[in-house]
Amino acid sequence: MCGIIGYTGAKNSINIILSGLHRLEYRGYDSAGIALCPKNGEKLVVVKTPGKIIDLENSIQKAFTGTENRNYTLGIGHTRWATHGAPTLANAHPHLSRNGQFAIAHNGIIENYEELKARLIKQGYSFVSETDSEVIAHLIEECYEGDLRGAVAATVEKLDGAYGIVVISSKHPDTIVAARKGSPIAVGICDGETIIASDVSAIVNYTKKVIFLNDGDILTATSDNVDITSVKNIPVSREMTHIDWDIHDIEKGGYEHFMLKEIHEQPLALANGIRGRLLENEGTAKLNSMQMDPHHMARIDRIEIAACGTSYHAGMVGKYYFEDFASISTEIQQAAEFRDRNPIIHRDTCLIAISQSGETADTLAAVREAHQKGAIVLGICNVVGSTIARESGRGVYLHAGPEISVASTKAFTSQVSVLAMIAIAFARTRRLSITAGREVIHQLSKLPEIAENVIAQEPVIKKIAEKYAEARDFFYIGRGYMYPAALEGALKLKEISYIHAEGYHAAELKHGPIALLAKNVPVVALVPNVPAKIKTMSNMLECNARHAPVIAIATEGDKDINGLYDDVIRIPPCAEFLSPIPVVIAEQLLAYHIARIRGCPIDQPRNLAKSVTVE
Ligand code: G6P
Repeated sequence: MCGIIGYTGAKNSINIILSGLHRLEYRGYDSAGIALCPKNGEKLVVVKTPGKIIDLENSIQKAFTGTENRNYTLGIGHTRWATHGAPTLANAHPHLSRNGQFAIAHNGIIENYEELKARLIKQGYSFVSETDSEVIAHLIEECYEGDLRGAVAATVEKLDGAYGIVVISSKHPDTIVAARKGSPIAVGICDGETIIASDVSAIVNYTKKVIFLNDGDILTATSDNVDITSVKNIPVSREMTHIDWDIHDIEKGGYEHFMLKEIHEQPLALANGIRGRLLENEGTAKLNSMQMDPHHMARIDRIEIAACGTSYHAGMVGKYYFEDFASISTEIQQAAEFRDRNPIIHRDTCLIAISQSGETADTLAAVREAHQKGAIVLGICNVVGSTIARESGRGVYLHAGPEISVASTKAFTSQVSVLAMIAIAFARTRRLSITAGREVIHQLSKLPEIAENVIAQEPVIKKIAEKYAEARDFFYIGRGYMYPAALEGALKLKEISYIHAEGYHAAELKHGPIALLAKNVPVVALVPNVPAKIKTMSNMLECNARHAPVIAIATEGDKDINGLYDDVIRIPPCAEFLSPIPVVIAEQLLAYHIARIRGCPIDQPRNLAKSVTVE
């Protein structure tokens, strides 16, 4: 979704802002712009364009000649993902105030903008865009009495909704003010320069020392100082976070796409996630950041899981773990549904919020609602210091490294392995014996090798992709642990290849989708060697009878399914509870190669965003 960057220091801000915007591209956007502040108090300069950063770079080149652009040592930039108003030049950020003295870039949605806009229009302000964000620029002008921080604070008090904002003014050529409510803002602390961004991937090239603003914080930054206060101007102190990954982790490292790189990183990501956490002797997992002792865990009598997208599918697998291993009654809900309904929560209910980015608006809202209702909240996040990770208070990080591709891959497999560890820790406070616990931990320790083996099947998967890349519809079917895997396989394919794909419980095939089966509608049947396989095999027969080509994902050496498939992807043998991991990796590779053959923009699929920070 939208991205923000701001720079103040001694260097040419244009290059730093553009490189920051490139780092934020993965979030998804459809227009971009920058605003620059001349040192001498002259007019702010704004350049923006619909389309991609490359278009912005061309516009900047046209706008400046020779050495002129070296004068700008302070500026802000934005990538916009259209919500209010089409992706046009006028709607692109930054937005200027009426007198041109203030420029803002905004992430989030201002819910009361129509009311504010109507009032400002009455007072003689005119609007050039259809965005909700433009009101912010005009309000700052209206509230300004010589103090930029004060004007921003007075403005945000008038706003309902979510925002991450950066503001510059020609009257303060050395200062950037930022504010946050519901949409992340991080500030990188370097020597003699300060970088502000909505996402640390735009900062990490310059510094590992980052401070994340909390909701309600106002940041005043110059090149050598950062000051954080509340809206009421009370100083607040925020901890510095040390980012433990660097720029190489977010570069493609020789892969054609981030998605492929991240698929290949799964053995390492899984190894990092389980390292030091598996206690083979005790038959349990050690997850200190959960901050729950066995007594506490034994008290939990109900689990609610809330998540979106791929994280939701991981949560479905998690539900099976909590029920199968720990016999805890567990509900999984799409995070939006969790907060829109009125979930039954009491003090022995634990909400598990799963979010790769830790910034998904609906998941964050579920965390807040669960806190409000007195639940114990656990966050499973990948991004260290993200809002959900911080607000959950307790949780488990994935340690999967940055995930850049919009389509989530390594986060899913890491989430599943973390959920398995949490479930085992709970289960060991209940009926799961030490022997059974040891076996589960032993199986978990094999995950990196299992992932490696599936990735080794890539040449076979690529050939299968060539055969089916022209299909217009796909079905994915599975039972038990393979049901969430079916949903995730279909999601991956539709996200990046634009092929219509649906995941179904295999038993549901007969209740509708079978009507669509035909020789040009491939069915991916998930049949690793687990008990539910036999029943799914009869569904494969039903597909055969309707001439729908069947692509089986099955265990190496399993002959039971012979004769039932047109093509097969083999995965290594593994415990049933872990089977979603190799199966989903195979699905990721299939989706990737189909999308590649179709020439799709794999890392940034149309209309999708990496992190959905609006409801
Ligand atoms: C977006 C992304 C998905 C992701 C979902 C949830 O839709 O495109 O890949 O699964 O958000 O994101 P989260 O960061 O909360 O896991």
